[in-house]
Amino acid sequence: MNRKTFLCLAVPAGAAAAAGLPRNFDVTRYRILTPKVSRPIHIAMLADLHDNYYGRQMQVLVSLLKNEKPDLILMPGDMLHDHRDNRNSFCFLQQLQEFPVFYSPGNHEEFLDDYEADMQKLIEMGIHVLQNQTETITIRDSVLEIAGLRCGVRADQSPFSAEEVNGLFHTDHFRILLSHQPHWTALYQNVRADLILAGHAHGGQWIIPFTGQGLYAPNQGLFPKITSGLYTFPESRMIVTRGICWQSYHIPKLYNNPELIMITLSPREEHA
Ligand SMILES: [Fe+2]
Repeated sequence: MNRKTFLCLAVPAGAAAAAGLPRNFDVTRYRILTPKVSRPIHIAMLADLHDNYYGRQMQVLVSLLKNEKPDLILMPGDMLHDHRDNRNSFCFLQQLQEFPVFYSPGNHEEFLDDYEADMQKLIEMGIHVLQNQTETITIRDSVLEIAGLRCGVRADQSPFSAEEVNGLFHTDHFRILLSHQPHWTALYQNVRADLILAGHAHGGQWIIPFTGQGLYAPNQGLFPKITSGLYTFPESRMIVTRGICWQSYHIPKLYNNPELIMITLSPREEHA
């Protein structure tokens, strides 16, 4: 089974396309120029897997990701889903041990029956689970400082102050904040991070054709504004993914393919 057919198991391809059901992955690419890296660094970002199934041993998704040959994988939340056994998610995650993987919890991890046990399982797979913590990593002679927030169960507004978030960073190396919630813009206005990565909104789940406008996102309601793409703040920028899931709560996305984001950090003199 190739990745073009994985989503059409239950629905004929033509009918799926006509109905706007996801039929393939979108790989969205960003390039960020920064003097804080000396050579290009390729980062894969994915969030909101929600235990979706992607073929036997999750090979469709594993292949997609490995073919991109990332230096680093970042996951800002909801890769697991509450009230599920998460066999698909764990199967996927345990196949990434050749990569450095950093992970911050989303709201659906907060609702897990045994949050601590599941986070421990991720840690034993070698995943760096960041729960209001920071770690540094050296890749291609450059240091990245990566912080991750726990988003909590009541996520309409951030429980963190900007001072608390800025206090997680201790260096002037390239700073990345993994924060599941894209709508905490009041917080992000005052965060000093080079890059914030968020998910959660699923692109608005059902995108109105030819508009790019999503229908609904949790915490934002109908016609949400912060669901996908690049957003800028005074001292930071944020990339929001539409999520690597094709459905959640058995409700499929419409006109909204699963999204893998690839980010290249490049030094300013880099022209490749
Ligand atoms: Fe979420």
